[in-house]
Amino acid sequence: MEMNRFADLHSHVLYGVDDGAKTPKEALKMMKMAYANNTRVLCLTPHYNPRMTEESLENSLLIYKVLMKYAEEKMPDMTLILGSEIFYHNDFAKSIQQGKCYTLGESRYVLVEFSPLESHFVIQKAMNKIFAEGYIPVLAHVEKYKSLREIKRVEDLAAMGVVIQANASSVVDEIAADTKKYIRALLKKKLIHIISSDGHNLLDRAPLLGEAADYVSDHFDEDYAQKLFYQNPIRVLMDKKIKTVGIG
Ligand SMILES: [Fe+2]
Repeated sequence: MEMNRFADLHSHVLYGVDDGAKTPKEALKMMKMAYANNTRVLCLTPHYNPRMTEESLENSLLIYKVLMKYAEEKMPDMTLILGSEIFYHNDFAKSIQQGKCYTLGESRYVLVEFSPLESHFVIQKAMNKIFAEGYIPVLAHVEKYKSLREIKRVEDLAAMGVVIQANASSVVDEIAADTKKYIRALLKKKLIHIISSDGHNLLDRAPLLGEAADYVSDHFDEDYAQKLFYQNPIRVLMDKKIKTVGIG
């Protein structure tokens, strides 16, 4: 059975603030594309890195309002949520409290990324700190980190309660064979909890989930696909607990 609605927790559709959509026109086209692909909840998660981000919060809110207005007019059953993809830094909690970046939909969940070369020790320590500060980490694009290619390390993170996110393109696109193999091994062990688009543009990093959802439904199971592409992202936005180990 095909899924008829998706919740995309990670995208760069908010235009003009990072390496995602450049113009209002591109952002609107991306929204249309996501909508046609059955996305009904779209989280806008611009990068936040205190060393790089210059954008003001007011500006992001303004752009968010422009996109919301467009959604209301053209796709009334689409929900847009503002969040951030936070590059981990020691003061991340302060950055959130000061309103420099956002949790996901005002929940306790934070979408967090690291340098692709970060060690698993540092990642694990950071995750502990995030929990200690009262937040729940969603690890952005697990497939990007070299040190996590050892599956046991992802298992350890899931055992801590870290929510693991992977990109839809890594499930279905023509990408490096070892990445594909890794993602499929994680799926087999149900160590991925959310699949999102991480959409940046209309071409090679598009905001699409349909093909990856079909793949998971066909090759794994439908219940798992429902969790990855809809139920778990919704649970995040509603600030409800997610089971990160022993799924299915
Ligand atoms: Fe991203």
